[in-house]
Amino acid sequence: MQTYDCIIIGAGAAGLMCAATAGKRGRSVAILDHANKVGKKILMSGGGRCNFTNYDVGPEHYLSDNPHFCKSALSRYNQWDFISLVSEYELAYHEKSQGQLFCDNKAKDILNILLAECDKANADIQTRCEILSVVTTQEAGHRYKLVTSMGNFACQSLVIATGGLSIPTMGATGFGYDIAKQFGLKLKARNASLVPFTFKGEALKLCQSLAGVSLPVRATSNQQEFAESLLFTHKGLSGPAALQISNYWHPGDTLEIDFLPNASIANVAQQWRQQGQKALPANLLGNFLPKRFIQQWVEFQGLTGLMQKELAQWRKDEIEQLASALHRWQVIPNGTEGYRTAEVTRGGVDTNGVSSKTFEAKKAPGLYFIGEVLDVTGRLGGYNFQWAWASGYCCGQHV
Ligand code: FDA
Repeated sequence: MQTYDCIIIGAGAAGLMCAATAGKRGRSVAILDHANKVGKKILMSGGGRCNFTNYDVGPEHYLSDNPHFCKSALSRYNQWDFISLVSEYELAYHEKSQGQLFCDNKAKDILNILLAECDKANADIQTRCEILSVVTTQEAGHRYKLVTSMGNFACQSLVIATGGLSIPTMGATGFGYDIAKQFGLKLKARNASLVPFTFKGEALKLCQSLAGVSLPVRATSNQQEFAESLLFTHKGLSGPAALQISNYWHPGDTLEIDFLPNASIANVAQQWRQQGQKALPANLLGNFLPKRFIQQWVEFQGLTGLMQKELAQWRKDEIEQLASALHRWQVIPNGTEGYRTAEVTRGGVDTNGVSSKTFEAKKAPGLYFIGEVLDVTGRLGGYNFQWAWASGYCCGQHV
């Protein structure tokens, strides 16, 4: 039997941060992961450059059935704490946009910092370790016993840091949810989130004809809106605008897209008329939108005939028709690309059963849940890693 003060299952962002923090307090710590490598999602994040936090982090950037739960940890370990950690290691980083911080070089630099911190804290990391069962025990003052492919382990504190369900090929499993159920915690419904949308029928044909086109839009659903860029794909819509709004979208909900978020087509058309612009409207729109988009969009909306008419001859209702088509395109996605490509899982372990200070399960002393396995989902922009660092650090102070 291998015994530790604390065993962490899952060597991802939250688990590594928790191990480093607990180990530095003098606790004996082991991290067990079934994958062949640690921190795989860190390595693939941010297009290989890891958007590791954001200059502007607040509870409003997170979704949860209990919106207050994340406040305590986010304030006790904030973005500046993580920035100061990476600065100690002289990590070269930059702000891309909207406060999002990325490594200048590679995401591996972030993983190396966490591994160096775990090393300083003498945490043992075991990969390729299958957890076969977890039971409570009172043997030798321990609380949990684990049967694994690497033998039996026992510990006082057991931390579940197994993340969500996205990208199963990278080792994601529902293990954390199963353990939560086994020890009497409730679960909130889980869905693929920060994920591209899929379409069918005419909308799909449109997206396919525009695949590769990217443009700034405002996307709205369920009273949430994001002004970001949108990318047409062979399956539907992706890009930051689609991913952000997917956090708030549920099957059957309408998505509204404004393709000209920074101009009013009614005003612009009025100005063109006053200036006596002779060019055809489609050509004038080329000042605002990609030509390929205008061509396909006009056809899709049945505006081809209208677009042949000089603007001077347009009636008011025709201008309104164009404005509506460009500013208020409403569509119901068929679904999303699912966990295969989602960045995160929305929902998870019900936070009402977990302490927001220590992350200990209220019904199972010595059992802790941190990171994405919990029902706390960040927006796109470094918020999910900040949650992993904050929850991992705060839990590491207690285990
Ligand atoms: P994480 O998923 O990191 O780690 C869980 C660990 O548990 C894994 O090592 C896994 O192998 C292990 N595990 C799972 N089941 C197990 C089992 N049964 N037994 C043993 N071990 C098990 N966020 C962000 O803020 N900025 C970004 O740039 C990105 N980019 C990004 C890109 C892509 C493609 C994805 C998929 C995700 C992102 N994210 C992101 C989200 C971010 O990666 C995610 O929220 C965090 O990694 C969550 O950290 P956790 O430690 O909770 O889980």
